[in-house]
Amino acid sequence: MSAEGVDKGRRRFLTAATSVVGAAGAAAVVVPFVLSMQPSERAKAAGAPVEADISKLESGQMMTVEWRGKPVWIVRRTGQNLKDMASLEAKLLDPASDNVAQQPAWAKNPARSQKEELLVLVGICTHLGCSPTYRPDIAPADLGADWKGGFFCPCHGSKFDLAGRVYSGVPAPSNMVVPPYKFLTDTTILVGDDEGVAA
Ligand code: FES
Repeated sequence: MSAEGVDKGRRRFLTAATSVVGAAGAAAVVVPFVLSMQPSERAKAAGAPVEADISKLESGQMMTVEWRGKPVWIVRRTGQNLKDMASLEAKLLDPASDNVAQQPAWAKNPARSQKEELLVLVGICTHLGCSPTYRPDIAPADLGADWKGGFFCPCHGSKFDLAGRVYSGVPAPSNMVVPPYKFLTDTTILVGDDEGVAA
């Protein structure tokens, strides 16, 4: 065989080998992804409701579940939190939740919730989409003597109370979003479905 013949043969071999590796590589990427998407995972990614077990959530605590790729916070507010929220209304931009885009109709109440002590909120700032920090502490040095607990967005300083109601004079233009949800039992919340909940 001539040197040219060897070269051609080698090129064919390399081409064929590359194709096989390429196909195997693509399969290696695709197959595990498909296999990892069990039906419930696929449904969740598409926006199916998500159950949250709140049986271990104590007064003053917050937990997070993921719904439609977003963090949803569940906070068990204290009695003092509810009193403090009522005292804040003059400082809030939309204390009565008049912006109907920010919550289901049944959540147009001071606590923005179905059960007064339980807040369920999409944990995304209404300014540019950062995730605010849960700050239940009273009058911390960085937030001032008037701070009664709430959510603080570290990106540009927006403040929200413990119902997700935005303070006046901050970059965020509206209250944080209350998602649809309903109670399946006293300790299980279905986030993403409020069918049958009366407004
Ligand atoms: S994204 Fe929250 S203040 Fe800008």
